Amino acid sequence: LPTRSQVDPGSLPAYACQRHTPLNHHNLCFTEALETLAEAAGFEGSQGRLISFRRAASVLRALPGPITNVSQLRGLPCFGDHSSRIVQELLEHGISSEVERVKQSERYQTMKLFTQIFGVGVKTADKWYREGLRTLEDLQGQTRKLNRQQEAGIRHFEDLSSSVWRHEADAIQRVVEEAVWQVLPGASVTLTGGFRRGKLQGHDVDFLITHPVEGQEAGLIPKVMGLLESQGLVLYQHTQSNHYQDFKDLEHKVSQSTAIDAYERCFSILWLPKSPTSFHPEAGEGPKEPSRDGKAVRVDLVVAPISQFAFALLGWTGSQHFERELRRFSRAEKQMLLNSHGLYHPEKKESLPAASEEDIFTHLGLEYIAPEQRNA
Ligand code: GTP
Ligand code: MN
Ligand code: MN
Repeated sequence: LPTRSQVDPGSLPAYACQRHTPLNHHNLCFTEALETLAEAAGFEGSQGRLISFRRAASVLRALPGPITNVSQLRGLPCFGDHSSRIVQELLEHGISSEVERVKQSERYQTMKLFTQIFGVGVKTADKWYREGLRTLEDLQGQTRKLNRQQEAGIRHFEDLSSSVWRHEADAIQRVVEEAVWQVLPGASVTLTGGFRRGKLQGHDVDFLITHPVEGQEAGLIPKVMGLLESQGLVLYQHTQSNHYQDFKDLEHKVSQSTAIDAYERCFSILWLPKSPTSFHPEAGEGPKEPSRDGKAVRVDLVVAPISQFAFALLGWTGSQHFERELRRFSRAEKQMLLNSHGLYHPEKKESLPAASEEDIFTHLGLEYIAPEQRNA
C-alpha cells in the first residue's frame, strides 16, 4: 500500500495511466458503491455515466489513505457532484440509499445475473429482461434463444461464476505451455489480464503467445486447441484467425477506436482436473460431468507476432479502465493513436516501434507504471 506521505491528493494527475493504482487500497466501501452505480449505468446503456462513476472510483483507488471527510474530495480530479454526494452519504450514514435501492432492484439483479453468463452482453440481457425472463431456469426453458456460446455459459455457470484462483491459473498455464511447445518449440506463453496485475483471483485466465521469429506464430491456435481437445480438456472454444488483411496497414489498425484487435485468438472454456494424476480421459472424449473432480475455467488465448508483442502485452494486461485512459491520454494529450497493435502519429504519418512496455510509456512521455500498479 502507498504510504500517506507518498501522494498529495491535491496533485493527483487526471488520467489513470499517470497514477499508481495498487490492487489493495484504502477506500473500498466508496469504490464498491461507485462501481455498483457505474455497472448499473452500463446496464441502462448510459456509457457517459458509467465512465464518470468509474473514473471517480479509480481516483479513490489511487489515494494514499482513506477518505474520512468530504472536504478531502475537493481538488480531486474526476469527482463530480453525484459521486461526491454518494461518498458524503456513506461517510454520514455508512450506507447510500441510492446504491441500496439499485442493488435491491429486480432490474439490476437480473441484468447482473444475465451479463455474468459467458457470451451475454448488456444488449442481450436487456432484451431478455424486457421479454420477462428473470432466472437461469427461465433461460433453460427457452433454449432456442441461446447460441452455442451462451448455451455453454449456462451449462458451466456454476464453475464459471466462481473465482479462478492464482494456483489454478498457474496449472492452466502449464497445460497450455505443454501444448504450445509441442506445436511450436521456442514459443512463449505469458500470463496477462488481472493475474499479471497481481490479482489473486479472476473471472478467467488470459494468455498472450508469441515466438521470437516473426511469422512462426501464425496459425498456432487451431493446432494447440486440437491437441487440448484430443486430451479431453476443451469444453468450448471459438477460434478467430488473425485478420490483419482487414486492417491493411498500421494506420488503419490503430485508428480503430475500440479495444477490438485483429490478433488470432481463442475464447474457450477448458477443463481443469482437480489432480492431474487422477485424470484419465477416454480417447477423444471430453468429461461429461464437470464440477465432479475438476472445474470448468474460462481461458482467453491471444497470439501476437513478436514485432507487436509489447503493444499486445500492454493492451491485454488491463485494467480495462487503465487501457481506456491510456488511449484517451494518447489521443487528447499526445495526438497519437494507441491500441494493442501499435502507436501511430497521424500527422507525422509514422508508427512508433516498441520492444517493451517501457518503450511505449516513453513514447507517450509517461512515467512507467508496473502491471501491479495498473489496477485503475
Ligand atoms: P478478470 O478476468 O475479471 O480478473 O479481469 P481482467 O482484467 O483480466 O479482465 P479481462 O479478462 O476481461 O480482460 C483483460 C484485458 O484484456 C483487459 O485489459 C481488457 O481491456 C482486454 N481485452 C479484453 N477483451 C479484449 C478484446 O477483445 N480486444 C482487446 N484488444 N483487448 C481486450
Ligand atoms: Mn481476465
Ligand atoms: Mn479475458
